[in-house]
Amino acid sequence: MRIGILGTGAIGTEVARWAHRDDQVEALFLYDIRTEAATGLAAELENAVVVGDADALIAASDLIVEAATAEAAREVVPKALAAKKDVLMMSIGALVDDAFHDEVRRSAKANGVKVYLPSGAIAGIDGVKAGRLGGIKSVTLVTTKPPQALGVDVDKWTLLFSGPAREAIRLYPKNVNVAVCLSLAGLGPDETWVQVVADPMATRNQHKIIVEGEFGRIRAEIENLPHPDNPKTSYLASLSAIATLKRILEPVQIGA
Ligand SMILES: NC(=O)c1ccc[n+]([C@@H]2O[C@H](COP(=O)([O-])OP(=O)(O)OC[C@H]3O[C@@H](n4cnc5c(N)ncnc54)[C@H](O)[C@@H]3O)[C@@H](O)[C@H]2O)c1
Repeated sequence: MRIGILGTGAIGTEVARWAHRDDQVEALFLYDIRTEAATGLAAELENAVVVGDADALIAASDLIVEAATAEAAREVVPKALAAKKDVLMMSIGALVDDAFHDEVRRSAKANGVKVYLPSGAIAGIDGVKAGRLGGIKSVTLVTTKPPQALGVDVDKWTLLFSGPAREAIRLYPKNVNVAVCLSLAGLGPDETWVQVVADPMATRNQHKIIVEGEFGRIRAEIENLPHPDNPKTSYLASLSAIATLKRILEPVQIGA
């Protein structure tokens, strides 16, 4: 498979490094608006080719790994799908826009290609997807961060927000990818409940997922460490992108 990486920042770099070692990857193409980011990475990865723009990346690749920004995803993902290329999309927050989400679904179906959305910085999405088939009553995400990560100055555990995911995303855009991922897997952004907590004792970004359904209950807790190259991104998000790519390439698949 020929892989094109859009955005060679924290996530794109790790995915490229891993893809470079996989013998099922025939060719690796890189594009970043910061040319030096792509050329620096290409210097490290033998045979990786830097291309001049997103259109060239799409033309050269079978699968586009979008690891840039929500704005880039809105521009490039529709073009890639129209060109009948599969897409692994990290800037999943872009899909909170219902019109864009519909456009992506319609185009992928019409063009016979797939859009892969990794679980990113959370775990338990496999159970949410499976549970939904039997009926889910409620999905709650409790995100707890140190106060400075939420831009507040509090000296005790403080519930900052409790409400639907769509509103949480508007008020706390840094949490957008996690909230959108859980919403898409479960009950959608209007029926997924989000609580945002500032905790001076917290040393990591924590996400607790509680799902009640006909199957019983899921409780998943994740304590994320930041990515060494981009503290705004959880390291698990990079690993999740790689795990998804591995799943695409592997002949035997595990997990729901
Ligand atoms: N799904 C999740 O759970 C999850 C978790 C973390 C991050 N993310 C998202 O993944 C994306 C990448 O995260 P990151 O930590 O690697 O970011 P990063 O800032 O480290 O890297 C992004 C790279 O994309 C490049 N870029 C920006 N606009 C571009 C464009 N139009 N075309 C090509 N390149 C462009 C930047 O120059 C940068 O090198 C972000 O949108 C982030 O919000 C998703």
